[in-house]
This record gives sequence, C-alpha cells and structure tokens, in this order.
Amino acid sequence: MIDRTREHLIETYRKKAKHYDITCRLYPAPGYPQRGQRRRAVQALGLRPGDSVIDIACGTGLNFPLIEDVIGPTGRIVGVDLTDAMLARAQDRTETNGWSNISLVQADAADFDFPAEADAILSTYALSQVPDCAEVIAHGAAALSAGGRWAVLDLKVPDNTPGWLTQAGTATVRPFASIEEWIMRRPWDAIRAAMQEELADFSWTELFFGTAFLASGSRLS
Ligand SMILES: C[S@@+](CC[C@H](N)C(=O)[O-])C[C@H]1O[C@@H](n2cnc3c(N)ncnc32)[C@H](O)[C@@H]1O
Repeated sequence: MIDRTREHLIETYRKKAKHYDITCRLYPAPGYPQRGQRRRAVQALGLRPGDSVIDIACGTGLNFPLIEDVIGPTGRIVGVDLTDAMLARAQDRTETNGWSNISLVQADAADFDFPAEADAILSTYALSQVPDCAEVIAHGAAALSAGGRWAVLDLKVPDNTPGWLTQAGTATVRPFASIEEWIMRRPWDAIRAAMQEELADFSWTELFFGTAFLASGSRLS
C-alpha cells in the first residue's frame, strides 16, 4: 500500500517537475504568500555563515537561494527528495547558480540516514505527504548538532472549517493524492506532536488564516 502510494507520488511529481517552479506560484492558490512563508521558515532556522542544512523533500530547490544567502560558500546544503525529476531540476538550479556546496540525494525521507551534526533541517510544503512524518522528525532531531534547529512549513486545513469547504479547497491543492485521506489523517497534528516531543523551544505559528503552519524547535540538550 505504501509502495503504491509512493510510486503514485513519484509519477505525479515526474509530470510536475518541468514546470514546477512556475505552477507552484499558484500553490495552493494564485497570490498565496508562499515566498514570504519560505523566508519565515528559513529565518526560523537561525542560520549563520558556514552552517550545514538538510532540506528534506527539497523538490526543485526553491529554498536553496534563501539558504545560500545566509550560509555562504563555506556552508553546505544536502537536498533530499524521492523524485528523480525534481532533483534533476534542483541540479540545474545548482549548476546555473554556480553553487559547489550542494549535494542531492534521492531517497524517501522515511529511510534517509541523516548525517550527524547537522546545524539545521528544513522541510517546506512536503512533510504532510510523508506517511511516517513523525519518524522523520525524530530521526532528524537525533542527528542535529547541539543547538541545531528543525523547521517545518506546510499547509493545513484551518480549524473550524466546514467539511464541504475543506474538500472544495483542498481539491485544487492536492489533486495527486486522496484529499479525504489527507484531511482525515490531519498530518499537521502528527507533525506538531512529534516536534513538541522531540525538540526544545518548540514554536507553532499558524499562517495565512490557518491554511499553513510553521513549526520549529532546537535539539533537546
Ligand atoms: C510540493 S513539493 C515541495 C518541494 C519543495 N520542498 C518546495 O518547497 O518547493 C513536494 C516534494 O516532496 C517530495 N516528496 C514527497 N514524499 C516524499 C518522501 N516520502 N520522501 C522524500 N521526498 C518526498 C516530492 O517528490 C516533491 O518534490
């Protein structure tokens, strides 16, 4: 079952990869403040020059410029994603920008062997698609350096939204998966609980009328 879901997801993102950077500007709706939300997520990592950052489910690498701006050439990014075609776009971005400090790894986030002593881990608009998201958070938290930070930005259903409206809204956002499954599973609750459990200084901020959240924290001492 998980394999079928995973294969479907890879096929979907293979089709999306070529035009992802353009179409994602409409995600989850035209005019959605996605770029501002990405900036906030990167700020939540408290990065410094020379830091090492793991971008989980990095897609085409849309976060890379924001991270590179802070860590500079002495820092390091490891981008991890399940879909080869998305990583190919991330590789194009890396070469176009002349960044020599980025490694890309094709892996399921649930199986990824986090390198020890990472300064920061980021995941944007992706972790709620990973069935084992709580395990991914725990594995990442264990790999962080002392004081290292984890930040997750993702979509959610606003609290108190009527069921019919939720379905209508998310149908445009998640055509690739079972909308009902995503709504019923409420992955943002699992992400919140896991981050609260695994991290110190846990912070949870709802964004844009509760349609997204930014969760972050530091490695427990
Ligand atoms: C909506 S895109 C987000 C990409 C990127 N993080 C961004 O902010 O633009 C979701 C990405 O998650 C990846 N993905 C989904 N499930 C995954 C998993 N279990 N492990 C690794 N990557 C996964 C997909 O291949 C896709 O590139």
